Amino acid sequence: MTTLHDTTARGFASDNYSGVHPEILEAIAAANHGHQIAYGEDAYTIRLQEVFRRHFGESAEAFPVFNGTGANVVGLQSMLPRWGAVIAASTAHINVDEGGAPERVAGIKILNVPTRDGKLTPELVDREAWGWGDEHRAQPLVVSITQSTELGTLYTPDEIRALADHAHAHGMRLHLDGARISNAAAALDVPLRAFTTDAGVDVLSFGGTKNGALGGEAVVVLNPDAAEGLLFLRKLNMQLASKMRFISAQLVALLEGDLYLRNARHANAMAQRLRAGVEAGIADGSITGVGFSQPTQANGVFATLPDGIADALRESFRFYDWGPAGGGSTERDGDPSSAGGEDAARNEVRWMCSFDTSEDDVDAFVAELARLT
Ligand SMILES: Cc1ncc(COP(=O)(O)O)c(C=O)c1O
Repeated sequence: MTTLHDTTARGFASDNYSGVHPEILEAIAAANHGHQIAYGEDAYTIRLQEVFRRHFGESAEAFPVFNGTGANVVGLQSMLPRWGAVIAASTAHINVDEGGAPERVAGIKILNVPTRDGKLTPELVDREAWGWGDEHRAQPLVVSITQSTELGTLYTPDEIRALADHAHAHGMRLHLDGARISNAAAALDVPLRAFTTDAGVDVLSFGGTKNGALGGEAVVVLNPDAAEGLLFLRKLNMQLASKMRFISAQLVALLEGDLYLRNARHANAMAQRLRAGVEAGIADGSITGVGFSQPTQANGVFATLPDGIADALRESFRFYDWGPAGGGSTERDGDPSSAGGEDAARNEVRWMCSFDTSEDDVDAFVAELARLT
């Protein structure tokens, strides 16, 4: 087969628009010899357990899955009985971008709380943390946070610890959606366990796909008392890969050395460059009418644009319109121009950088923004 797409097309739509990091492709190729036991008893999945224990501590156990929605659905299902509910930010991927899978597939009620920056606090959790023992209310038994958040912001390890302590004090568990967990570790400049295992997180979704993998994530159980039935839940949720060695090989390649950090640091640095470039343009008057709706703490820049600019800019670079903070958000893989609704009122947009975003991409984007505004 020959290449079918325009290989020069670049953009800022999502960190999953990028391809696969060459070292991941090499890892897949290295795993592609001979026969291996299917469904997880292969050498790569065994190595994966060692690697995850090194990063997350001796009690960590990883369950590779196909995608992030699957990781969240399987992980949350393992944490909750049929009558359980999850407290999450209204912008959480599990609330707005998983097609209702946590509700429809896992049967979990999501109690969502509006936030300013995509981050829960103990006080915000308390808005929905009530009604235990009331047979009329789905029982809040898990708090779910996203790190880094859907709005490009970060929790500090102390903020996560406070949420974990608060959840645990009320008999709830803490789940972390780590689709961009490596971006968070790189930005905070701390080991992965500093804001997970050591901060009291019970179960997390580990993301590989947005950080250079072809496709691979894992449910990681940090507190074995918090999760039940994982041996069966992947199959039940259609997330048990028969050729699991190829998912595991990708995650091993990311985590065995420092590839997860190299990729994430680069993506974060490109977001910082983009932010700084636009700020410099605003300061010298070459860019006008542009503002920022969130701090740039990981690999996403959230901005507001003058009327008509987003579509003009999209002639050259893809990116998504976004929702008001605390309201809806979107993480679509389709046509960015189809995102709209409320977003259009504020002209809020999201610019994501990935492991292969180049300085030239960023500089060309900033120059085009300056030309248009
Ligand atoms: C915060 C968050 N969680 C989970 C996911 C997983 O999504 P997918 O099922 O597309 O892998 C994404 C990707 O868009 C995400 O941004």
